[in-house]
Amino acid sequence: MRVYILTLFPEMFPCVLNASILKRAQDQGALKVDLVNIRDFAVDAHGTVDDYPYGGGPGMVMKPEPVFESLDWIRGQIEDEPYVVLLSPQGYTFDSAWAKEIAQKENVVLIAGHYEGFDERIRILADTELSIGDYVLTGGELAAMVVLDASVRFVPGVLGDDDSAWEDSFSHGLLEGPQYTRPRVYRDMSVPEVLLSGNHDAIMRWRRKEALRRTKERRPELLEKARLTYEDRRLLEEIEKEQSNLIEA
Ligand code: ADE
Repeated sequence: MRVYILTLFPEMFPCVLNASILKRAQDQGALKVDLVNIRDFAVDAHGTVDDYPYGGGPGMVMKPEPVFESLDWIRGQIEDEPYVVLLSPQGYTFDSAWAKEIAQKENVVLIAGHYEGFDERIRILADTELSIGDYVLTGGELAAMVVLDASVRFVPGVLGDDDSAWEDSFSHGLLEGPQYTRPRVYRDMSVPEVLLSGNHDAIMRWRRKEALRRTKERRPELLEKARLTYEDRRLLEEIEKEQSNLIEA
């Protein structure tokens, strides 16, 4: 996957790009990231990228020309049409389905808006507009990093087989249950016996049950959408009984 990030603040990115899995993905050649400074495409000698809003009002608005020009430049660099994502609080809510969709694209452009907003004509450039949540960031850069990080996990070869993105929480529709590592007892807190039992079936069953329990407690709306087996429903009944026993006790 090749990703171009259009931003007025390219200096925000290297820390994130040069660590951990994003770094490894680039070293392996599974990901290539180009930071494109929108200011380099300003159409006047002062490098102006924003202007006052027509009709008045507070704040500045990002001008259309530098964004259009930078996207034209990117189009000249690659053969295929890129998939263009505009980051904005008005977009569709980004989730793991979007991450999988983006991971399938060969060339992706992430446009990080700034200032109070951007000229409406910029929207025409985007194939989709994504928000990372119902809050307003100072700019789209952090959102672009979130989208990149979550999407690259679905690019084949980026994660090892052991920690495949397809195996985790939101791919299964359930939250993951608790995990433990050594030591067996720490400050009087013990690892559940079943995990030490060596009984693979019992461990799998326990893990599934705890994933169901956690999802029921924290994100009950995910349970409604999840594909549950007959066995899952039985485990949920067990959990409900345990809860009512706890309340009675
Ligand atoms: N830009 C500002 N706030 C944002 C948000 N919540 N998501 C995506 N881009 C943004």
